[in-house]
Amino acid sequence: MSKVTEKPYAPACERNQQVILDVLKRVIRSSDRRLLEIGSGTGQHAVFMAPHFVHLEWQTSDLINNHAAIQSWLDEAQCPQIKTPVHYQVGSTSFPEGTFDVVFTANTLHIMAWQLVQTMVIDWGIYLNSGTRVVIYGPFNYNHNFTSSSNESFNQWLKEQNSDSGIRDFEAVVDLMSQQGFNLREDVAMPANNRCLIFEKC
Ligand SMILES: C[S@@+](CC[C@H](N)C(=O)[O-])C[C@H]1O[C@@H](n2cnc3c(N)ncnc32)[C@H](O)[C@@H]1O
Repeated sequence: MSKVTEKPYAPACERNQQVILDVLKRVIRSSDRRLLEIGSGTGQHAVFMAPHFVHLEWQTSDLINNHAAIQSWLDEAQCPQIKTPVHYQVGSTSFPEGTFDVVFTANTLHIMAWQLVQTMVIDWGIYLNSGTRVVIYGPFNYNHNFTSSSNESFNQWLKEQNSDSGIRDFEAVVDLMSQQGFNLREDVAMPANNRCLIFEKC
């Protein structure tokens, strides 16, 4: 994360926000009322995307040390649908309260340790209702293989930061989700060797 003016700024969000929005437009229904974003980061995705879904409350969340950054984007956006971040740290805090129709998380599965990914998915199995959709954006491996040399280099860089981080296997994620009652609806190819995985709870 670098800084432009006073607000923390993630250049990757500028590059991927439109293509993720296009996917969310296909996933979010007019009857949906609440979306939970896990690992909101700077808050840029929320600020860019939420105004396209005026019927929806967009609940941001992250570790407490990212809340000031998220709030600085929210303060500037003045978008009442976007809610002040809640403290959701997978493995340490309880799942955010209330009912969610959609869960969206970008670039978190390769940051969290696999054990935390498992905990997060178990939370989804417990707290999300039938019909809830989960949209996961990020890089994935297929058949234990990297899909590009840039993803392989990225994985190496991730491991240097934290040996528990790393690009996850698509098949392992689908299997984990299935164990918690989620069916894979779509696996959408995204630019820069990323994917958007769309699941729905049975
Ligand atoms: C690479 S950033 C992605 C941020 C944003 N979603 C994006 O795409 O720019 C990873 C995010 O996951 C969050 N994160 C890391 N560990 C987490 C945990 N245990 N529970 C919830 N979020 C976590 C980080 O604080 C960070 O905001």
